[in-house]
Amino acid sequence: MQGFPYRLEQRSTQTALIEALSEHLERCLRQRLQAADFTKPLGLATGRTMEPLYAALVRRLNRWPESDLAALRRGWLSFNLDEYLGLQSQDPRSYRWFMDHHLGHPLGLSTSALRLPDGTRDDGTASACSYAQELQQQGGIGLQLLGLGSNGHIGFNEPPCSEDLSCRVVTLSDATRDQNAAMFGGDAAAVPARAITLGLQEILAADEIHLVVTGAAKAQILGALMKAPEPDVHLPASWLGRHGQVWLWADADALNHS
Ligand code: GLP
Repeated sequence: MQGFPYRLEQRSTQTALIEALSEHLERCLRQRLQAADFTKPLGLATGRTMEPLYAALVRRLNRWPESDLAALRRGWLSFNLDEYLGLQSQDPRSYRWFMDHHLGHPLGLSTSALRLPDGTRDDGTASACSYAQELQQQGGIGLQLLGLGSNGHIGFNEPPCSEDLSCRVVTLSDATRDQNAAMFGGDAAAVPARAITLGLQEILAADEIHLVVTGAAKAQILGALMKAPEPDVHLPASWLGRHGQVWLWADADALNHS
C-alpha cells in the first residue's frame, strides 16, 4: 500500500470542522481577490454536507467591507458538479435552487456567475456537452469542493467508474436514490432517475481538491476509501488518490470506522 494520499484535516466535531474549512475558504477567496486572480473557476458541490459550510462561508463573507464583497461578486465564477435531469430550476429539490438558496441569494451572486448543468433541457447529452465546453473555455476548475456519496460516488459518478469519463448524463443507482430520498419526501422513486455530472476527468484536472466528509453515516465508506490500496472502479472517490493535492476534511464521527 502506498502512503496515505490525502492531507488529513480532522476536527472532533462537525461544527469545528466547518469552522476551520470555512475559514480556509474565506482565506483562499481573499487571496484570489487580492491577486485579482479569478482566472480559474471554483468547483462547488451540493448535498447536506455543504449546507452548514455555505452558511458559515456566507456569515464570514457578509462581514467583509461592501467594496470587497462587490469585487468578489464581480469576479465570482463557479461550476457545480451535478444536477438532476427533469426538475425545473425553481423546484426546491433541484441543485440550481439549492445553490441559489444557500449561496447565490445570500451573497448577491448573479445566476450566470453560479453555473450548474442545465437539467431542464430535453436533450441532456447536449446540455452536458455545452457545460463541459463552457468549463473548458474557462480553463477548468481551480479549487474543487467535494462531498462523498454513501456508495463512494463523487458528483454523480456512480460505481463502477473510470477516471477517463468526462461530463455526461448518468443513471443514478438505487443506493444514491435511497441516499437522497429525504429531499423527495422520503420516496426514493421520486428521485430523478438521471442526472448530469462532471466526470472524474474534469474533477481530477482541478488544481486542488477538498473532500468533506462528516457524520457517522459516512464512516463505513470513508473507512473503505482510506483503506483502498489503489484506485478502484467500484469506489469512484478512490481515483482522488492519483491527484496529489487532495485535502480530506473529516470529523470524528466520519473517521470512526473499524
Ligand atoms: C449527492 C451529490 C453529491 C454530494 C453527495 C453527498 O448525491 N450528487 O454531489 O456531494 O451525494 O451528499 P450529502 O452531503 O447529502 O451526504
